[in-house]
Amino acid sequence: MVALDGPAGTGKSTVAKRLAMALDARYLDTGSMYRAIAVAVLRAGVDPTDEVKVGEVADNAKLVVGTDPEKPGIVLDGDDVSVEIRGPEVTLAVSPVSAARHVRELLVAQQRAIIADAVDTVGGIVVEGRDIGTVVSPDAPLKVYLTASADARAARRTKQDNAAGRESTVDAVLADVRRRDTYDSSRAVSPLKAADDAVELDNTDLDLAGTVGALLDLVESRG
Ligand code: C5P
Repeated sequence: MVALDGPAGTGKSTVAKRLAMALDARYLDTGSMYRAIAVAVLRAGVDPTDEVKVGEVADNAKLVVGTDPEKPGIVLDGDDVSVEIRGPEVTLAVSPVSAARHVRELLVAQQRAIIADAVDTVGGIVVEGRDIGTVVSPDAPLKVYLTASADARAARRTKQDNAAGRESTVDAVLADVRRRDTYDSSRAVSPLKAADDAVELDNTDLDLAGTVGALLDLVESRG
């Protein structure tokens, strides 16, 4: 198993999927699960900062998460929300939703079950998120904390958004990246931080292929 943590906009998702394909492994995007709960919260008309109501929504939400790196996808209550989870409203709501203790308890339990299922399969599983090495799988044999400068991350996110037909500007994305960094690293439950035994990889000056190559080297060096 590979645990891949880090802030928004490092290209983590693309890197994790490519790595999983190269290793013939499963792939789990834990951020998509928090985003899907944020969709459920918005659909229910609940205030994303109302921790009690958000917890109730999460209790009643049924998630089915795909672990094929070629087409991961996520289904909420029978409805494929893979595209909706990337929208700006959801991106805004997901930080407070993911800071709710009960939401984290539910999703971490579900993530551990998915990992337990996949960990003994041939290629294992690549899991990406914010707290995989620290909370979800503290015993993961390889933990990587992927990071890059805020400017580089904002530039990449903007390009990605525009390519997907979502309008955005570097300034707005940079503000969002900074807001989420602050929110995610200062929350009380499972704040974003590198595990003590994680390898830190700064990919400010690396492209996608270079980042995946560096990760494959790490996997190989761990045997
Ligand atoms: O990775 P992504 O940007 O899709 O994650 C969306 C949000 O979900 C993050 O900003 C963070 O608030 C939350 N998250 C989390 N723990 C994880 C994965 C994501 O709190 N393991």
